Amino acid sequence: MCGIVGYVGPQQAQHVVVEGLRRLEYRGYDSAGVALVVPDGTGPGRIAEAKKAGKLANLEKVVADSPLPASHTGIGHTRWATHGAPNDVNAHPHLGHERRVALVHNGIIENFAELRSRLEADDHVLVSETDTEVVAHLVELQVQSGVDLTTAMQRVCLVLEGAFTLVAIDAHDPERVVAARRNSPLVVGVGEGEHFLGSDVAAFIEHTREALELGQDQVVCITRDGVEITDFRGRPAEGRRYHVDWDLSAAEKDGHDWFMRKEIFEQPKAVADSLLGRRTQHGLLQLDEMRLSDDEIRDIDKIIIIACGTSFYAGMVAKYAIEHWTRIPVEVELSSEFRYRDPILDHSTLVVAISQSGETADTLQAIRHARTQRSRVLAICNTNGSTIPRESDAVIYTHAGPEIGVASTKGFLTQLVACYLLALYVAQVKGTRYGDEIDQIMGQLEAIPEQIETVLAGAQQVYDLAAEHTGARSVLFLGRHAGYPVALEGALKLKELAYLHAEGFAAGELKHGPIALVEEGLPVLCVVPPRGRDQLHEKMISGIQEVRARGARTICLAEEGDTKIEPYADVLVRLPQVPVLLQPLVATIPLQLFACELATLLGHDVDQPRNLAKSVTVE
Ligand code: M6R
Repeated sequence: MCGIVGYVGPQQAQHVVVEGLRRLEYRGYDSAGVALVVPDGTGPGRIAEAKKAGKLANLEKVVADSPLPASHTGIGHTRWATHGAPNDVNAHPHLGHERRVALVHNGIIENFAELRSRLEADDHVLVSETDTEVVAHLVELQVQSGVDLTTAMQRVCLVLEGAFTLVAIDAHDPERVVAARRNSPLVVGVGEGEHFLGSDVAAFIEHTREALELGQDQVVCITRDGVEITDFRGRPAEGRRYHVDWDLSAAEKDGHDWFMRKEIFEQPKAVADSLLGRRTQHGLLQLDEMRLSDDEIRDIDKIIIIACGTSFYAGMVAKYAIEHWTRIPVEVELSSEFRYRDPILDHSTLVVAISQSGETADTLQAIRHARTQRSRVLAICNTNGSTIPRESDAVIYTHAGPEIGVASTKGFLTQLVACYLLALYVAQVKGTRYGDEIDQIMGQLEAIPEQIETVLAGAQQVYDLAAEHTGARSVLFLGRHAGYPVALEGALKLKELAYLHAEGFAAGELKHGPIALVEEGLPVLCVVPPRGRDQLHEKMISGIQEVRARGARTICLAEEGDTKIEPYADVLVRLPQVPVLLQPLVATIPLQLFACELATLLGHDVDQPRNLAKSVTVE
């Protein structure tokens, strides 16, 4: 996730900004940059900037080779690529047409394509592929028209759609840095005769522990001596003032003990971001970056999904959705098995490779094999510019932001979103679903972030449950239909983090063998499907009865209002009501929380579990 820093005060801005960026490195990034206002005693100042793909050390080398002038006002950015590859040109800051305004941005501007065309029609030359550069041009146009930077920012925010934190400087106004936020974090650091801006407090914690959190749709102007907050219409507003008593490590984790827990709690935003900009003005689904023509999509007669670990379980969920909405047969296969079985592939087979990191060797080898067989490969990936999307014919990027915890959480949920979007898009192109059905499902997806919030609000119940199970030797997970991969994912999380024997089963399969494992007191977590479809709910209850009758302790995840489950649940964790195909988006969360908490209580390193690497780059 991008890191943002802003500074105005007596210190050398370049130093403060680059140090701030270093404190934000933990967020993950692929390029970095800094811009300063260099005042000119006699006339308007100018912007000096430097930016470079890769690590901060690359940027530091650039400024060591060609030092930037002294300045007391500056902004900086570490970029996690969304629009456009991770290279020098796309790195932030971006400048306006006349190089008067420099701007950095975190988030996604949904209507950037339309805004960009308008600018280009007015002879603006945009050099990068980013949505950010468009905003730099727009803000500059405003200041050129005579308003100050704060007003310029307010006016521009009114025309932007999407999620953003923006921070800008104006060469003609060397004493101010202006920022804005909508659905993306921004904090002000309040110092003595100096002020800071940061994506989080880690950016300035070594200078001040007094912070001011901006509210939704607010603009802030910082000078050496003041902080002024307004809404987008210029009306005075207030931020939330607080004292930071975390150490740096807690600050990086936003007060959480683990990156994993932080990432679990980021899921409402990650899902919302992955849905941003997916519909045209006319309500049609669009997948801009996908690069498969409608004709190519109409030609698809089989889909094979390949992935590993958690991404494989996302693929299993995708199979239910794609087959149901598009009627195209789908196979899901572990990447490591796929290429060694001589799979039947041809040009009308679409291979979908799901990978959070984009670097998993097994999946990479599998896509290389598929392409030698003339199949087209679509990557679903969270890491822009990584090898798997680069070697694929098409890509859908998820917008989870960097995932630091080794155990995948927000990566998984956003993969699910990308799979649903792919399924709906193919259904739209092939005409296997009516537009209003697609519209209805999109509406249900758009409601999910809020529903995830309600699940997260109940975290304490799950933590208490984890505390009751610190002595467990084995835990089983049951699910049916789209809940089956969720059971597998719940078991994987527990294995990875708590080093416990854990297994997931399709509930209907129990009686064919696994039920022999059930003994008195064995915890069995059951993902109960929503009521009312194809007897799934009733069948699941039968499975739960079977294990309970043999002494299992049943912990049931069931939707609100499901009273039928009550007699069979020793513990009931409530889920929001969502359609069965989308239920994994809410049902996975208590399982993530359970594993994270249990591992914490057992004293394990949740972010770096033993024997595991975040990205497995060997076969
Ligand atoms: O980066 P990828 O999605 O390709 O990684 C696949 C698996 O290695 C990954 O999901 C792994 O299973 C995680 N540790 C699960 O939490």
